[in-house]
Amino acid sequence: MDLYSLLNYREKKMMSAPDSCYKINTILIIDDEIDICTNLKAFFEDEGYQVFVANDGRQGLELFARQRPDLVILDLHMPHLSGHDLLTELARKAPHIPKLIISGVGNVNEVMQAIHSGGWDLLSKPINDFGLLLHKIGLMEEKAALLQQNKHYKKYLDHILEQRIVALQSSELKIMEAQREIVSRLSDVIEMRSRETGNHVRRVAQIAHYLALAYGLSAAEADMIRLAAPLHDIGKAGIPDAILMKNGKLVDDEFEIIKTHTTIGHEMLMNSDQPIIQAGAIIALQHHEHWDGSGYPHGLAGEQIHIYGRITCLADIYDVLLQKRQHKESWHAERARNYVQMHSGTFFDPHLAQLFLQNIDSISDIILDSAESG
Ligand SMILES: [Fe+2]
Ligand SMILES: [Fe+2]
Repeated sequence: MDLYSLLNYREKKMMSAPDSCYKINTILIIDDEIDICTNLKAFFEDEGYQVFVANDGRQGLELFARQRPDLVILDLHMPHLSGHDLLTELARKAPHIPKLIISGVGNVNEVMQAIHSGGWDLLSKPINDFGLLLHKIGLMEEKAALLQQNKHYKKYLDHILEQRIVALQSSELKIMEAQREIVSRLSDVIEMRSRETGNHVRRVAQIAHYLALAYGLSAAEADMIRLAAPLHDIGKAGIPDAILMKNGKLVDDEFEIIKTHTTIGHEMLMNSDQPIIQAGAIIALQHHEHWDGSGYPHGLAGEQIHIYGRITCLADIYDVLLQKRQHKESWHAERARNYVQMHSGTFFDPHLAQLFLQNIDSISDIILDSAESG
């Protein structure tokens, strides 16, 4: 059973569960008038309830804590702790437990205040109509059941929401993971086909990620560059083998064809609605553009070049310089560093080049780590 089926099953199971109900079995009476307590206790016991009695507010609160009754019946005027204070305290501790106020005829404000403090209903003393008393208790029982049901469904909805979020996050992670996998395998194909030195695209990705963070891009964007940078040369899939794998030096026409790997790569990726592939399309198109406008395919300059393009250009060239290629030996790190310095503001975004040079030790470590893991 997959996660969604499991959730649906659990939802149905919970939905079809019997409604929660609230049953009043135990009653706490708090009143300083002994006769009233005695009469009510006798009446309720005859009706089958278990009854506890307290004759002042403080004792009532203690008994409440000990017995946790299903209903509290209380007077408003009592020694030690007034009915209002008692109500406030009970409402705070147990808002879901019904509280019936029994009081002599008082003023309307006092009654309103008692209801406001947490009383659920009111009955005037002396109590002559016990049918009305039972009716009110029945209504409060229904209200308590509704509140309990509401609480139950709120908890249930919170639970479902939480499960849905977890499921969504899990699906997003799986999709992201699948994209990473596809990008990684595509990069391997390009690397093999264009005879790149082992792990070139991974090093470019790591250096680009480091530079993106140093530049001040968010962790999410830096991650995006790391995932998309390996696609920078994907357009080479559209370059004929005879040119791509030529052993001799390329003539001008051949070089013009090689240059089209940027636009080919862009066309391959541009129509995706996946963020990683979209970033890959930008990088494929712009990773040979130069800050001074001397690059290709469009001769963009400065900030016309997307930051993804500027970062990948620097990371790509630096790594190529350090590696042995068909027509060049690997360069010593110092020579490659000088190259970056020399081309700051021409090929490379000067601010990026400065950050790169300031962090050259960390970048060298990234390259070393990659060589060891590759
Ligand atoms: Fe390229
Ligand atoms: Fe490259």
